[in-house]
Amino acid sequence: MSGSFDAIVKLDAEHVMGTYPRLPVAFVRGEGTRLYDSDGRAYLDFLSGLAVVSLGHAHPAVADAVADQARTLTHVSNLYYNDIQPQLAERLDSLLGGDGRVFFANSGAEANECAIKLARRHGQTHGGPERHHILSAYGSFHGRTLTTLAATGQPQKQERFQPLPSGFRQVSFADLDALAGAMDERVCAVMLEPVQGEGGVNVPPPGYLEGVRRLCDEREALLILDEVQTGLGRTGKWFGYQHADDVRPEVVTLAKALGNGMPIGACWARADVAAAFAPGDHATTFGGQPLAARAALTVLDVMEAEDVPGRAARAGTRLTTALEAVPGVAAVRGAGLLLAAELADGRDAKAVEAVCRDRGLIVNAVTPTALRLAPPLLVGDDEIDEAVAIIAAALAEAGG
Ligand SMILES: Cc1ncc(COP(=O)(O)O)c(C=O)c1O
Repeated sequence: MSGSFDAIVKLDAEHVMGTYPRLPVAFVRGEGTRLYDSDGRAYLDFLSGLAVVSLGHAHPAVADAVADQARTLTHVSNLYYNDIQPQLAERLDSLLGGDGRVFFANSGAEANECAIKLARRHGQTHGGPERHHILSAYGSFHGRTLTTLAATGQPQKQERFQPLPSGFRQVSFADLDALAGAMDERVCAVMLEPVQGEGGVNVPPPGYLEGVRRLCDEREALLILDEVQTGLGRTGKWFGYQHADDVRPEVVTLAKALGNGMPIGACWARADVAAAFAPGDHATTFGGQPLAARAALTVLDVMEAEDVPGRAARAGTRLTTALEAVPGVAAVRGAGLLLAAELADGRDAKAVEAVCRDRGLIVNAVTPTALRLAPPLLVGDDEIDEAVAIIAAALAEAGG
């Protein structure tokens, strides 16, 4: 079905909206950590979509489950029950503490929309009509719908879409004083990524999330953790917040890795908070449909059976250590297999990314001077060594 690269580019240019600044490669197949382009060339995928295919491309168990479910039942309206959705909710809830409820969406932004609407309902129910403000952090990324864009602390992404919904404000990430200063009685929730992904793989210092939790408790605000990128093993634990001591959020959002490529998002909330929604308050046609939910159930089966978070932690240590030894890498930050290699001497990460791609490795310039690495969590040691060798060669080639 796939055509030549030039034919794909032409068709795309003629028919797809020009919202994506595309890179010059078209992928047509994937298997494990490998991707294959329209010329049949293989690449090591150290990006996993963007932290999506955590079990690798075309994982056999997920592929079988999707095929079987496609032959059984793909969709029924949420006017009715389906047999898969509550099973997935139970599994997610048990991972998140066992005292919550789940709403299923189709993407990270939609999961966050649900979290924001829920926080507003909860705040207004418990604190009055003024309690509807959401605080988030500069450098954050929560999505591209208008509301999640309002929560996203990146003014350059917001500028062209004013006016955005009101009631959102950003403070510096990892700065408890800034947060405390902004927490007035109108704030219904603080929304944060445990590790900022799109903003540059920024890890807050130890004690930060614990401090945020304390502030939220003092000021009666909910803590919403956007685990769309960090969740489900990516950071070496099931959830990014589990790196902090004894912190439990009221709301957690998930997407990316949940379906290993099948579009599904989830918003989990502690049951007493979830109770702020009444039937009819929120809905989506495709949320929790059997096809995507069955894929997600299978993802959780594999993650549990193979201790995928533990494997990500070990692989992350190997990758970090190897990258730190590469000439031209100044520092490595991140957690588990969500890493950024900060390049020495202000080297141009985009240029290094391009050389890596030419040499058969997919990584991405998450800032002008840092490469993000987020391989599938089942990545092998030999694949890590191969990727690091390519980065070393690319840095040598790209020069200073
Ligand atoms: C932390 C975080 N939240 C939300 C989103 C938005 O997810 P989606 O693109 O599925 O809407 C992303 C996407 O990169 C993300 O990294």
